[in-house]
Order: sequence, then C-alpha cells, then structure tokens
Amino acid sequence: MRNSKFVQHYYLGSGALNFLKPLLETKRTANESFVVFVIDHFFNGKEVINQLPITRDDLVLFADTTDEPRAEYIDDLSDKVKSYKPYLPVVVIGIGGGSTLDIAKAISILLTNPGLAQDYQGWDLVKHKPVYKIGIPTIAGTGAEFTRTAVMTSKVKKLGMNSDYSVFDQVFLDPDLLKTVPKEQFIYTAMDCFVHNVESLRGSQNDAMTIAFAEKSLEMMKDIFLGEMDLEKLLVASGMGGIAVANSNVGICHPLSYGLSLVLNLHHGYSICIAFNQLEEYYPEVAEFRRILEKYQIVLPKIINESVSNKDIDRMAEATLKNERPLENAFGKEWRTIFTKEKVIDLIRKM
Ligand SMILES: [Fe+2]
Repeated sequence: MRNSKFVQHYYLGSGALNFLKPLLETKRTANESFVVFVIDHFFNGKEVINQLPITRDDLVLFADTTDEPRAEYIDDLSDKVKSYKPYLPVVVIGIGGGSTLDIAKAISILLTNPGLAQDYQGWDLVKHKPVYKIGIPTIAGTGAEFTRTAVMTSKVKKLGMNSDYSVFDQVFLDPDLLKTVPKEQFIYTAMDCFVHNVESLRGSQNDAMTIAFAEKSLEMMKDIFLGEMDLEKLLVASGMGGIAVANSNVGICHPLSYGLSLVLNLHHGYSICIAFNQLEEYYPEVAEFRRILEKYQIVLPKIINESVSNKDIDRMAEATLKNERPLENAFGKEWRTIFTKEKVIDLIRKM
C-alpha cells in the first residue's frame, strides 16, 4: 500500500497560461525574490517566450533536451541557479516536454538538498522541502506534469528521483501550447501515455484508483487518435495516464525502452514506440497502437541493425533487467524465470 500524492493545483483550458502572471505575483512578495524559468531550448527565440511573465531579476535557463536529461547536466544547471543570487528563487518553473519538466523538478530539489542529482536517483531519498515549483507541459503524453518522479540518466543508470517532493505544486495545462509540436514527436510522446495505461492496467501493482484513471485515459486516447483530435482532452488523458502509472507501475515496455535509450541515446517516446511495437504477445493493445501509427502515417524504422554490436545489445538487455519492480509488476515474483535474458535479447533483436 502506498500513500499517494497528486498535484494539488492546476489550471486547464485554452488561455490557462494567462493565469501564470497573477500567480507569480503572489510569490514575489519579498524585495529579494526571483523566479527561475527552465524552458526547452526548442522555444529559444519563439513567440511563446514573449507570453511568459519574465521580469528583470528572473533567471531564464534554456534546457538542452537533445538528449535525455543527464544527472551531471542537472547539477550544472542547479549550480547556475545557486550562484545567480545569494538567496534562493521563490519559484522554479519548467516549460517544455517531459525532459524539461523533469529537469525543473530536479533543480527545485537540488536547491534545498545537498549533494548531486545522482545521490537522489531512487525512491524517497529527498529529505528537505524543495523550492515551490510549477510545471507547464508543451507536449502531451509523458505524464511528467503529474508524477512523483524526475527521470534522469547518470553514468550507470536511468532512474528517476522518486519522491513526494518531485511533485509539482502547480500545473498549467494549456492546449494552445501544443499546437506547434512536430507530428512525429507529437505522436511518439502521446503513445508514451497510451503505453503507461496499458502497462498499468495489465500489471499486478494497480488498484481501483489507478485502474479508473488508466481505463478512462486509454478510452480517451483511442477517441482522440482513432476518432477526433482534441488537444485539451489529450492533456487530460496524459495527466490521468501519468497519475495511473505513477501510483502503480510500468511493465515490460518501459524497461526495454530504457535499455534502448541508454545505449542508443534515443528519446523516451520514440524508444517506447519502438519497443511497444514488438510486444504483441504480451499486450493485445499493440494492434490499436499500430492502427494509430498507420492513421498518422508513421513508419517505425528497424533500429537494431548491423551498426548495433552484440555488446550493445547485451548492455540493453542488462539495463532492461535492472528494472525489477516494473518486471515484477508485469510477470509476478518469479519474473526472472519467465523474462530471461535470452528472451529480452530476442525481443531487442526484432526492434
Ligand atoms: Fe513513459
């Protein structure tokens, strides 16, 4: 049994972002106060920056999300914030996709907790209350805006800071921000949510609450992607899928995708799609997933080709099998006897 935590406040709907300025004004009470904006570098020089209530004293950090967040990179950004003023910011805001949101979460934690980002990779290792943080997703699917993890890769592992202190204090869900996302990225990220729901529902670590969220989110995803596109509904489905998976667990697809991402440096949503496409023997929903890709004319390439060595594949399998909790969620306590290294390598070779 777990003591689940949700995001406490959110604005939802077209124009939600307009409510950021008055909210920040309630936080900028002292003379010496500043806000940190962690913004996906994709938006550098773009119109959306002008909509943000950035004042002279605020610090803007453009997060390089070319690769998945690395623990050392998060340490660098946190050091920039610490050396910017002799006092801490009143708010840290993440604006972007899952990587940017996770970076913002981690920075807010590292500002009040000593040591390095990698020290907090794991479960409930954060001891001190972080700086108040706001999440503003500009793409839907990761669920990062609602979850209690901040995923990052250090030299040896891809593992999140899983903590109640990773949960945003406030979220803004504004569908207008989703309009400029390139099609491929939009679908790959949305399918991350689709997979969160499937893994959560088909695992053993769910409960009545997560089942309710995941079932509804999955139903909405099918409506949206096989019926009519609705960005506001997609933001809600993404959030619900995030809540479902954060309070239950992922299953087979995420561990496999972590191996792919770690060795081939692939973005999360993309590696999720590559892995999920080979999991029809475990998840019947793969058929619907393929129908969605087809509808949006997305053809997944074969990424395990001659340029990938046996040693790389071995590393991917090892990284996959490190995810004990998700694999136990999927297969039960005896998962090692079912999901053997040979089986994992077999699946990877098909990707
Ligand atoms: Fe995911």
